[in-house]
Amino acid sequence: MATELQSRTQPSPSRAASCGGILIENVSRTYARAGSRVEALDGVSLRASHGEVLAVVGPSGCGKTTLLELLCRLQPPDRGTIRCPPAALMPQRDLLLPWLSAVDNAALALRIAGVARAPARDRATALFAEVGLAGFEHVRPGELSGGMRQRVAFVRTLLSGKPVLCLDEPFGALDAITRSEMQEWLERTLAREARTVVLVTHDVEEAIVLADRVAVLSPRPGRVTAQLDVHIDRPRTRTDSAVIALREEALGALEAGRSR
Ligand SMILES: Nc1ncnc2c1ncn2[C@@H]1O[C@H](COP(=O)(O)OP(=O)(O)OP(=O)(O)O)[C@@H](O)[C@H]1O
Ligand SMILES: [Mg+2]
Repeated sequence: MATELQSRTQPSPSRAASCGGILIENVSRTYARAGSRVEALDGVSLRASHGEVLAVVGPSGCGKTTLLELLCRLQPPDRGTIRCPPAALMPQRDLLLPWLSAVDNAALALRIAGVARAPARDRATALFAEVGLAGFEHVRPGELSGGMRQRVAFVRTLLSGKPVLCLDEPFGALDAITRSEMQEWLERTLAREARTVVLVTHDVEEAIVLADRVAVLSPRPGRVTAQLDVHIDRPRTRTDSAVIALREEALGALEAGRSR
């Protein structure tokens, strides 16, 4: 069932528009810091239908992580409306628990949901093989590379079973080859089990290769300066001419946002 965070000043969004998907309407968020105010997001409106991948790109500090935290209800918006089914967050920093093994970290969401240890481990172990972590199940996070930790965190997010995945730079610490393998794996996974995904990335090509729509945010306070629909057949690669053309458009929108 969709959850709703709604300010009193905003009208209720239409039920049809948000059925199974995400609806963000005119959302703003300002932080109070050391006596001053930091405006992170200003009047952001976005939507994603059930099963769509929405990529969000924008300069550092423009409120991308804030947006994901709003979707996951980790903080409320100051203004605006958010309708979003239960969402799992893969945070920008992996936040693995150092005293648990890699596989127990990955199985954590299942354990919290009441799944017994053995079947929870089995499900995590099966995914470890797919993300190239076979053999590292019982290693502690401190002994894993940054990219391996990221993959453990990714498996944990996926195993949450939530209908919405909020991924904050999920492949940022990976080398180019592993990154593209993980992108392919994500696509296969999403083709198998429909999830709505909000993907924050600094990599415009990654956004276009993976997403149904790319939202471009301006520098802080983040405002949506462009939304590009990606009508390119899958699977896509970075070298497809249509991907390259859209990349130019997205980079142009990023640049235009900077010089506003
Ligand atoms: N808890 C907080 N308290 C005060 N200010 C905050 C807090 N969280 C974020 N900010 C500020 O809000 C702005 C947006 O931060 P946010 O982390 O959402 O940006 P971002 O787009 O994810 O950046 P990056 O690409 O570097 O990860 C920044 O100026 C940041 O300093
Ligand atoms: Mg961030």
